[in-house]
This record gives sequence, C-alpha cells and structure tokens, in this order.
Amino acid sequence: MNDKFHARRGAANEEMKSRGTWKTLQYLEGPMAGRTAMENRGEVIILSSNNYLGLSNHPQVIAASKAALDRYGAGTASVRFICGTFSIHRELEEELARFARTEAALSYVSCWAANTGSIPLLAGKGDIIVSDELNHASIIDGIRLSKTARKIYAHSDMVSLEEKLKEAAGELAEGGSILIITDGVFSMEGDLAKLPGIVELAEKYGAAVMVDDSHGTGVTGANGRGTVEHYGLEGRVDVITSTLGKALGGAAGGYVASSRAVIDSLIQSSRPQIFSNALPASVAAGALEAVRLLENDPSILARLRENTDLLRDGLKKLGFNPLEGESAIIPIIVGKTAFAIDMSAKMLERGVFVTGFGFPVVPEGTARIRVQASAALSSGDIDAALEAFGEVGRETGLLG
Ligand SMILES: Cc1ncc(COP(=O)(O)O)c(C=O)c1O
Repeated sequence: MNDKFHARRGAANEEMKSRGTWKTLQYLEGPMAGRTAMENRGEVIILSSNNYLGLSNHPQVIAASKAALDRYGAGTASVRFICGTFSIHRELEEELARFARTEAALSYVSCWAANTGSIPLLAGKGDIIVSDELNHASIIDGIRLSKTARKIYAHSDMVSLEEKLKEAAGELAEGGSILIITDGVFSMEGDLAKLPGIVELAEKYGAAVMVDDSHGTGVTGANGRGTVEHYGLEGRVDVITSTLGKALGGAAGGYVASSRAVIDSLIQSSRPQIFSNALPASVAAGALEAVRLLENDPSILARLRENTDLLRDGLKKLGFNPLEGESAIIPIIVGKTAFAIDMSAKMLERGVFVTGFGFPVVPEGTARIRVQASAALSSGDIDAALEAFGEVGRETGLLG
C-alpha cells in the first residue's frame, strides 16, 4: 500500500466535510416507490428519484425481468458481437425505435455509456460540436473523448447558439459536419431545451441535432415520448439518446435512437459496444415492459402530471418560488451548497427524502433543493411532504 496516495484522498475528503459539501449515502431496505424503508430511519416519502412513472416497482416490470432472468440467465459473459446477443435486446431496440419514431435504436448499459460511446464516433476529426453550457456531464465527457473542435453556447440562448454556428460554419473543414448537442430537459433546472429554435438554426446552418432526453422520456410530450414529441419535431432531430434508468423502469440502461445508418455504425465502432458487455437481459425485459405500460396505460402519465401540478402549486402556496418549467423537476434555489444540504437533512428528519445539490453539480451560489414528482406518490404523500416543507422553510428562514 502506498500510504501517501491514500492520505491525499483522505485529506481531500476532510476538506469536503469541512466545507459542508460531503454527500452521505442513504441505504434503502425496500424498492423505490412513493414511500420506502430507509435504514435507521423507517418509512420515508421520496421526492428525489427519477422514478417519474413509478414503474421501478411495477408488478409487470418485475415479472418481465424475472421471466427474462429465468429464460436467459444473468448474461452472455461477453461482448455482443463476440458471443451473441439475446433476442430480448432486439425486441427492446425495435420497441425503442418505434417509441422514439426513428428508424432504429441501440441499447447501452447506461445513458452515460450511450453518450460517451456515441459522441466521439458521430463527431470526429474535422467536425465541430456545438454544445449547451448546461449539458449533462455525460455529454461533456463524450465531447472530451471526441477528437473534434467544440464550441459552447450560453444556456438555451438562441443568439449565442447562432453566433457559435456562424463561427463553426466559417471554420469547418471540407467534408466536416456540425453537431449541436443539447439535453432535452435540463436535469438541474427542469427547463426544456428550446428545440424549435435549435432545429431551425440547425437547418439554416446545415448542422445535425442530438438530444439527450433522459429527463424528458416518459415525462414530456402528449404520449410521454419526450421533448421531441412535445414540440412536434419528430423526423427533424437526428439523434436521440436517453436512459432506461429513470422513467422507463428505473433499473439501468440507455439507448441511442436514430437512422439505420447511425445505429449500424455504432454497432460496428462505438467503443462500449465492441469492448463491453450488453445490458443484462433481465433489465432489458423490464425496460421493454415499462415502455409498453407507458404506451398502453395513459393513466400513468396523467398521474405524474397531476402530482407535478400538486407539488408545484403547493410549494408556491407555501411561499416558495420554484423555477418554472414543464417537466417533473421542480428546483427551489437556496444559494449556498451547505444550506441546501442542511435543508435536505432537515426534510429527512421529517421523513421526506429530497436532495440538495450544490457546487460542483450546479454553479457556485445557485445550490438548490430539487423536488421531483412521481406517479408513485399518493395525494397523502404530497400533503405530508408539503407540510414538512412549510416547517423547514420557516425553521431555515427561507419562508417568512
Ligand atoms: C441528461 C442525462 N443524461 C444522462 C444521464 C445518465 O443516465 P444513466 O444513469 O443511464 O447513465 C443522466 C442521469 O443523471 C442525465 O440526467
């Protein structure tokens, strides 16, 4: 053991603790739901999960996962092209393409892997990526892995985007292309990308558009098909990436949905596809069932929307001023990171699990409590959570 190596990490950890930014893992003893059992605390109400549709504990999702485990076992113990791929992967991918209204789709073990595994391939040497400044870390890392030039535009600012596109068009090498990348729903703000403006500018400057809709899938759009559906832009967005680890079952997994040509090229050359195992069959089957539930039972999405309105309106009535938005993410800006963490701890003392986010996840001074709605919450859960918010708001001085 190299003592100096470990001591350096220990010192960095102590510094985080002294700054009040230390994150503590909370262990759950039951499934993710509106309420679940937390170790050493008992039952808590969950306002911090991306389990938007409440499907992570749905009996049909669980049954489908178990059946796939029985049929296929744990996995192939290898990479898809080397050792074969399960037929459930093809079934899932065909369903995801239908759901996203694209020619084809390809699953990954996470959306992190989908972004970092596809971006370097879709934009390489001689191309230029134009990216929103608040894009998710997995997009940022995907861009870092790419050998392309990059330009960052101010968050959702169409004037800034056009400036960057003009620059890019002027600098583009012969045969190169421009790829605009944006989150569909920004995870820390809860706001939707201005996709109509982005697509219009892309068409004007001959750029392609890639949308990571991890927080939009199953949430936005008339049928929950995401931000592209919300704006009626099907067929005008080139690449959609998303997760299966939030609304669509909540276990894990991600995907890229696009043209057949893009998907075929990812199968051939995307590094996680050719150097890493596939999504476990049980997880693929659970996600497939989640997509089918979303498509066949509109009451699930309706419940999410009702609960989102109840939470947002209730918080406003109490005197909070959450950021406006059309997603299921309702952030309350509180300022300092330590304040957000303390507020989240006080909520937990009252049996409500809602997470505070601070620097470096969000810019310094804009720490927040991120409230997330779920179809899994009952009206009683929401009432109890709002009561706790009122108490903590007054105790911390956020509410007068
Ligand atoms: C916008 C966005 N993209 C990608 C991811 C990563 O998804 P996964 O958990 O499937 O890797 C997240 C998760 O937080 C996200 O919010």
